[in-house]
Amino acid sequence: MKKIVVLTGAGISAESGISTFRDSNGLWENHDIMEVASVSGYNKNPQLVQDFYNKRRQQLFEVHPNKAHLFLKELEQNFNVTIITQNVDDLHERAESSHLIHLHGELRKARSERNENMIINWNKDIKIGDLAEDGSQLRPHIVWFGEMVPMMDNAIKEVKTADILLVIGTSMKVYPAASLIDYVKNNIQIIYIDPNDSFQSNSIIHIKKKATEAIDDIKKILGL
Ligand code: APR
Repeated sequence: MKKIVVLTGAGISAESGISTFRDSNGLWENHDIMEVASVSGYNKNPQLVQDFYNKRRQQLFEVHPNKAHLFLKELEQNFNVTIITQNVDDLHERAESSHLIHLHGELRKARSERNENMIINWNKDIKIGDLAEDGSQLRPHIVWFGEMVPMMDNAIKEVKTADILLVIGTSMKVYPAASLIDYVKNNIQIIYIDPNDSFQSNSIIHIKKKATEAIDDIKKILGL
């Protein structure tokens, strides 16, 4: 079976009702991204950041995977599929995709403030005073600006062995995630799905549509 690696971003969850980051003049849920998704923002106002992620975690109970998430599961019938997502929602899990790497963490996990490897499943609000086993404050298991991306090496290994790269719903503006496209083997097919011209490159096939509307185009290119 040929191997497809799918790099997804906020755009694949947009049609499930989850806001993207850079579609709305740089504000994310009315916050400057650096205020709520950076180490400095957390140190400056931990309560604001905890509340911000509590709201996003709560939202997970109101949204569902859309046809694009489900299509990636269906692709497993014909291809060996690995998804590398920048998203922290659980929609790929709920679409039952089998091989999934979260580069930027997961909303439904929490971790020790002190030890990034002390991670637990967590589905309710995190309150100041909720402690990890090491006695430090629990914080969202999210990779913030200014922090390392621990899953990057695994992701690079996956991309290096891809026969086809599918990029869905990411502006390719955040590194190191965006650099994954540089690790593909020579001359493999790169298909980019985005209704906007967020990312330009002369060696890719750009399907200028929303994720759910691009499914038939992707199937045609893949010979399905
Ligand atoms: N279908 C496909 N793509 C879409 C859709 C849709 N329905 N709606 C919007 N898009 C596209 C936008 O045009 C944009 O290019 O999805 C892309 C979303 O880009 P961003 O908002 O920058 O999100 P993303 O690329 O996932 O951000 C990467 O930045 O803030 C950090 O850690 C955060 O993981 C996030 C990272």
